[in-house]
Amino acid sequence: MNAPRFLQLHRPDDAALAAEAAAGLLQPAAAVSPKFLYDALGSRLFDAITELDEYYPTRTEAGIFAAHGEAIAAAVQAATGPAPILVDVGAGDGTKAARLFARLQPRRYVAVDISVDYLRGALARLGREHPGIEMLGLGLDFSAGLALPGGVADEPALVFYPGSSIGNFAPAAARQLIADMRRTSCGGAVLLGVDLVKASSRLEAAYDDALGVTAAFNLNLLRRLNTLLGADFEPRQWQHVALFDAAQSRIEMHLQARVALQVRWAGGERRFEAGERIHTENSYKWTTAGFAALLAEAGFGTQCHWTDPAGDFAVFVAC
Ligand code: AVJ
Repeated sequence: MNAPRFLQLHRPDDAALAAEAAAGLLQPAAAVSPKFLYDALGSRLFDAITELDEYYPTRTEAGIFAAHGEAIAAAVQAATGPAPILVDVGAGDGTKAARLFARLQPRRYVAVDISVDYLRGALARLGREHPGIEMLGLGLDFSAGLALPGGVADEPALVFYPGSSIGNFAPAAARQLIADMRRTSCGGAVLLGVDLVKASSRLEAAYDDALGVTAAFNLNLLRRLNTLLGADFEPRQWQHVALFDAAQSRIEMHLQARVALQVRWAGGERRFEAGERIHTENSYKWTTAGFAALLAEAGFGTQCHWTDPAGDFAVFVAC
């Protein structure tokens, strides 16, 4: 077996992250990037979310792969040829990509995540289980654009971005990221999971579950800001809010002050009135036609998609 290789191309810079978070808190309408939700506890809370009855995307996407895996792999390999390079964007523990290995038989697996440290354990295990696949872990912050170093994917590749993570990006930024993925695929294909528009009652339940796990996931951002900024947020003073904005076709998550309060951190402070909010995440919901148009705008000439029978979620292949 060839041992996994790792390349850390991104320097985590806590001072820059703290400055970014503070600037967001000081905007008239306070807002911080959803990336602050994913510290160690936040990532575990997100994993718990995927098990909730109300949160359908993860299991619905898995069901689409189970039902249509053969057709999806055929569509991919029509573009990439057999044994493609598989580039997994936001790989995490690599579980979703590993489910494609049997059908796709990739010759190289490139796992991209913000920190290679998240990738080490997973790639070591996958390397043992799949000794025929070359394993490469890349530490890269693709939120500002996706570009791989030369030699990593110089032949037609599959760029894999499952889980409806594309929903965190507003349409113009999503179009840019997808165009980056198209360049990265080097004449191959992209495979994306996309959450679809549905009744706002179901969408709002998926982001405000009965057990309060999503509320904990959102409130955990305040702990993260306390650590990062040296702030004194008191989570009990804040309430989780999730609402569907039909005009913008997105779920918005906010943290809403229950009382008038003052927050202080190293080098700054802000007063929040009772009811005032911090905007913490957007999750855009698409129609299949709308997402098909976005792929075309990003430069793709050919595409197909599969949905579950209820039409809740879609898997797109474009080349
Ligand atoms: C990881 C961005 C796909 O938008 O559904 C889940 C994040 N936020 N519940 C999503 C999330 C609240 C999730 N994504």
